[in-house]
Parts: sequence; C-alpha cells; structure tokens
Amino acid sequence: MLPSIIFPLALFVSYSVAAAPPRHREPLHIPVLRRQNARRSGTADLDRIAASAQATKDKFRLTSSSLSRRAQTTDIGITNQGQDTSYFAQVSVGTPPQNFDLVLDTGSSDLWFATASCVSCSQGTPLLQPTRSTTIQASSQRISLSYGSGNATGIVMQDTVSMGPFTVNPQVFIAVDQVSDGLIDGQLSGIMGLAFQGIANSGALPFWQALLNQNQLTNPEFSFFITRFLNDPTAQSEEPGGVLTLGGTNSTFFQGNIDFQPSTSTGGFWLQSVAGVSVDGKTVSIGNAVTAAIDTGTTLIGAPTAAVNGIWSAVKGAVPLSGQMAGFWSFPCSTQVTVSISFGGPSWPISIDDLNLGTVGAGNSQCLGAIFDIELGTGPGQAAGTPEWIVGDTFLKNVYSVFRAQPPSVGFAQLSAAAGGSSGTPGPVGTAKLTGSLPTPTGGSNSAQRQLVPFGNTGIVVASALSLLTTVFVLAA
Ligand SMILES: *[C@@H]1O[C@H](CO)[C@@H](O)[C@H](O)[C@H]1NC(C)=O
Ligand SMILES: *[C@@H]1O[C@H](CO)[C@@H](O)[C@H](O)[C@H]1NC(C)=O
Repeated sequence: MLPSIIFPLALFVSYSVAAAPPRHREPLHIPVLRRQNARRSGTADLDRIAASAQATKDKFRLTSSSLSRRAQTTDIGITNQGQDTSYFAQVSVGTPPQNFDLVLDTGSSDLWFATASCVSCSQGTPLLQPTRSTTIQASSQRISLSYGSGNATGIVMQDTVSMGPFTVNPQVFIAVDQVSDGLIDGQLSGIMGLAFQGIANSGALPFWQALLNQNQLTNPEFSFFITRFLNDPTAQSEEPGGVLTLGGTNSTFFQGNIDFQPSTSTGGFWLQSVAGVSVDGKTVSIGNAVTAAIDTGTTLIGAPTAAVNGIWSAVKGAVPLSGQMAGFWSFPCSTQVTVSISFGGPSWPISIDDLNLGTVGAGNSQCLGAIFDIELGTGPGQAAGTPEWIVGDTFLKNVYSVFRAQPPSVGFAQLSAAAGGSSGTPGPVGTAKLTGSLPTPTGGSNSAQRQLVPFGNTGIVVASALSLLTTVFVLAA
C-alpha cells in the first residue's frame, strides 16, 4: 500500500497483479425475501434505535469516458426494505456484469461494493468477484469510509458500472473488504452515494455526476418517488419501493408544480434551509439552526434541540424519553397530529403514518415519534457547512422529490394518486393565521396497535456514509 498516492493520481493496474486472490468462500445463497416477516409482537428495540440515532450524530461530525451517448430520462425500479427502513436499486459492475443491490443515498457520495475478499461481511452478502471481471483495475490506494453506523474499508478500483441503460466506464469505486458489524445487511452489497463529489471520501466522481458530465442525462436532475409500508401490517421485508428517475422527472408520480428551492451550498450535500415548521397548522419555534440535508439514506428526521423541543412541545401529551432513548419523544398513540415543513415554498405535511413509529413498549399507549434530537447526548457541535437537520424518508415518503444539479436545488411536489397521493395539501409558509385544518392524512392508521419489534433476528443497520440513520425495527401488527 502506498498511502502517498492520492486518488486522482492513483495508478490503476490489472486487478490480478495488484491484489491477492480473494479467499474462497461458501457458495452464496441469495434469497429474495431473506427473512421471515417480522409481524410478531415485541417491544421496541431501544438499543438499536438509540445506536442509530448516535450513528446519525456521528455521521455529521465528519466532515471518464468520452463515449458519446444519447441523453435519456429513465425510470429505475426501487425496492423498499424493512418497511421503509431503506430503499435500494440494482447496479451492475464488471465484464461480464455482476449485479448488486445498493442503498440509494442522497446523503453521501461514495460508491462501494462488498467484495469476495470481505472477511467481515455478514454471511449471505452478495459479493463482487473482482477476478471474474476482465475490465476491472485496482489502484494501490486503500481507504476507509466512515458512516454513521459503522465503517467500510477497501481498495479503490475502477470498472464499468451500469444502472438501467446508463453506463459509466470507467467508474471509480471502493472494493470493500472490511465492514463493521451490521453496516450492510442481507441482500444489500453496498451503497451508491447520490450527493456531490465534494464529500466523496474517495474523491471520485459519483456515478450520477459522471452521467451528467458526459451529457447522458436529458436534464441535470434525478427524482424520487418512494413508497410507504410502515402502516401496512402485511408488508413483507421487501416491497416495491417506488421509482428513481434519472435525467428528469416522471409526471405519472406527481401533480401540480414542483417547488424548487436553491440548495444553500454547492458541491457537497443536497442542502436546503428549513423556513418553518408547523404543528396542526400552527408555526412552532425551531431556533436558528436550519441547514438541512435532504437524505434518502436516512430513515427518520434528525433536527437540532431547539426545533425538536419546539415541535414536540406543540403535541399534546408528548414527552421526552431518557436514557438510551434520550433525544426521542413519545406521544399518545391515538394522536392524529400533522407536522409540516417548509423550505421556503409550500409547507409540506408529514403523514401520521410516518411520524408514528409504534408503541414504546408492549401495551404502552405512548408511541415513538420519528423526529429526534440530533444534538442531544454527545453535543457534537456543528462544523461549518455541515447539516444541522437530516431530513430523511419520514419526510420524503410524503412528496415527490427532485434533485437538480444546475442550478443546485431541490424540488418537491405533491404525489399523484398513482403514487399514493401526498399526505395533505401543501400550505403556505407559516400557517399560524390560517384555519389549521390540514386534511386528514390518507391511509388508515392503526397506530394504537403497533409495536416496534426487532426486524428478524439481526436487525437492520443500513448506513449511509455520512448519511445516516438506519432504522433497525419494523412495526408489528
Ligand atoms: C470506525 O472507525 C473509527 C476509527 O477508525 C472507530 O473509532 C469507530 O469505532 C469505528 N466505528 C465502528 C462502528 O466500527
Ligand atoms: C412514467 O412511469 C410510468 C409508470 O411506471 C411508465 O409507464 C412511463 O413509461 C414512465 N414515463 C416515462 C417518460 O418514463
């Protein structure tokens, strides 16, 4: 290893010369539904939820080809894993192509695959076999990725990488041979970062940005519609997850205008400024820390202390939890409260089905809230430019979201009926003077009966590099 070789100068050489042959491993068993459905009663896996929250805090302490192709807009199917815990899609690498499921993470920028030489990957993880690709090249650079919920370490390599009809060759990625426990789980083999190159630990150009630079995308943007199964007691561990549209939007999944707000910084995270939060139509105090990363790789919403206190203080019966759950709040399971967030345009309501994570214990009438204090406990302090809020899937399930590179901005629109519909009509910023009667969220809620239970025996920990949180539980019927 020559640590002095910095990425852009790293020499890529034939893999077989650069690295020892991978260890022999047991034949892989890759079940489509790898675990039993976790529809059984139990209590919240508080250890794991607390660990996940810590992971999110930790995360934010961290700081081509010339082939010309026709520009396209293409839909990529997504899978919803663990009742909205994470969203993944298939990516192929190598010649001939080897297919893997990677978490789609707008909160990080590195691309990595677990490889056959991974000794610490969980059993059953589908592994990239570098020696089976005739086009792979390895560098001598070994790097470590620090994620909220763990670490992944490996060698910088490059090879052909494809997603749907799009190909980047060569695409630089990390061939991971060491991961901390639980960083990826089951069918997942890695993470595809969808933020900007500026926060890539490897320094490499992210796949989506390579497509943009090579004029492969019709429009300089990609869009997400992600599904909700949190309120579906019959949900399997894997369900249809929605659609990632690369190179544009798909009007099938949204209605009305897309409200674009400028990204408050460029080159790193997809940042937005939180302009206001309302609870049942009444504006609440959120303090001055308003920089938010819009992050598909985080399950919940992490916010600064002032905002979390402002929000939950406006919910009748809400109480802060303590001990390992410090930073979380519980609220009466029967409460049908609507929390809405504005980033400068409309105020977007969050369904109670997303806000309510289930009872805090068997038979308890208090339920766990999905907005937690990202600062409490460790007081990490915020480095300049790092997000103070992490707006994850709890919010993103309620809108159609568009990540636009030029100019850097994020857009939200109401979901179409075909996409399940949004949770209510967006309101103006600061609705304190309005009626406050936001439409009742769609979809039945049986939250009073829900309980948090560990997902399978191992729990899910899906990390995202600088990204976030991974929940580790699902709701029981
Ligand atoms: C990741 O690595 C850092 C330092 O290398 C270490 O302090 C930390 O405990 C590791 N995290 C995990 C989850 O292994
Ligand atoms: C939009 O999505 C619908 C439903 O999946 C699909 O039939 C249609 O082809 C998509 N449109 C475009 C332009 O990709």
